[in-house]
Amino acid sequence: MKTYNIAVIAGDGIGPEVIDEGIKVLKKVAELDGGFAFDFTYFPWGCEYYTQTGRMMAEDGIEQLKKFDAIYLGAVGFPGVPDHISLWDLLLIIRKSFDQYVNIRPVTLLDGAHCPLQNVERKDIDMLFIRENTEGEYSGAGDWLFKGQEHEVVLQNGVFSRKGTERIIRYAFETAKKQGRSLTSISKANALNYSMVFWDQVFEEVSADYPEVKTASYLVDAAAMLMITDPKRFEVVVTSNLFGDILTDVGAAIAGGIGLAAGANINPEGTFPSMFEPVHGSAPDIAGRGIGNPLATIWSASQMLDHFGYEAYGKKVVDAIEQLLVEDEVLTPDMKGSASTSEVGDRIADIIGNLQSVKA
Ligand code: NAD
Ligand code: IPM
Ligand code: MN
Repeated sequence: MKTYNIAVIAGDGIGPEVIDEGIKVLKKVAELDGGFAFDFTYFPWGCEYYTQTGRMMAEDGIEQLKKFDAIYLGAVGFPGVPDHISLWDLLLIIRKSFDQYVNIRPVTLLDGAHCPLQNVERKDIDMLFIRENTEGEYSGAGDWLFKGQEHEVVLQNGVFSRKGTERIIRYAFETAKKQGRSLTSISKANALNYSMVFWDQVFEEVSADYPEVKTASYLVDAAAMLMITDPKRFEVVVTSNLFGDILTDVGAAIAGGIGLAAGANINPEGTFPSMFEPVHGSAPDIAGRGIGNPLATIWSASQMLDHFGYEAYGKKVVDAIEQLLVEDEVLTPDMKGSASTSEVGDRIADIIGNLQSVKA
């Protein structure tokens, strides 16, 4: 029997609470199939670990993670540890070290999910964000000169390499082609006169290889507006690291809330493990109360199933989320319900258990 070895970094705040439910669902799926299993190895890394050791992860943490089939991550960051340390020394360094250059974030309005926009039907919000995930505005390069002095200067450099830009745009074209949908590039060449001029140029060059894919291109400010006023014009979307970060929170807001927004950090070549995590953070304001919404983390588990080639199960998990939303009974407070995190996980596992068996 095939066993998938999963490294679990539950992390901070609601991270451990929501990740438990995702694991519950993955175990349920494996049990239903009977042909594969998951083996979970827990890593206690995060802000508490930092407080005890002065590090966010073990010194050889990246080496330890390398041998796993995938990483399942809850959330990182908590008051008391500066965010730029906690995130750079754990989450961002994993994305970079494992060359997880594709960040896939679905923005899909499921039946039963609350959309704050008027006159919008489910089919109007069905986007797939493909965010560049290892360089760009998140290169980490910069400098802090003359600290504290009158002529203090801070530099934060964007790095857009030919290889890094071309591969993400090509990946997005391949996805759009496979799905038979349009591809929209979101950039900002009017103000960012090097990086985004280059981005637009590469988009144009690569598009020549995909005459069958209909394309569009927007400036990021206009795109943010259009996602609200006319979301149906977006299908597959490709954008830079920072723009993708911001726009996928906008996407979360129109597709049912941040508690539903899922993400996959993919290393397409399979040289390194890919990582699955919700879009949201550690939600310190509600941590420890058992009321964090686990649906985003569960949806990320469905992306893990897709990644391993079990798309039929991945779809079942999303179908189960949709059924739970339509039932409108077992929901966490962010969705106007009164259920706990684990009650939602239990209900999803039940729904999946009751589905017709699917051999993926
Ligand atoms: P956040 O996503 O943690 O929280 C924003 C708001 O959304 C809060 O009111 C929170 O209660 C709510 N929320 C988020 N997830 C929820 C869920 N699953 N169920 C119910 N409510 C939910 O963003 P923030 O407050 O800006 O960041 C908190 C910490 O998390 C910071 O340290 C930040 O750097 C970090 N962060 C980490 C990740 C990650 O690990 N991938 C992502 C974003 C933010
Ligand atoms: C996300 C998060 C991270 C990002 C932060 C925590 C560094 O906001 O995954 O969306 O900006 O990528
Ligand atoms: Mn974000």
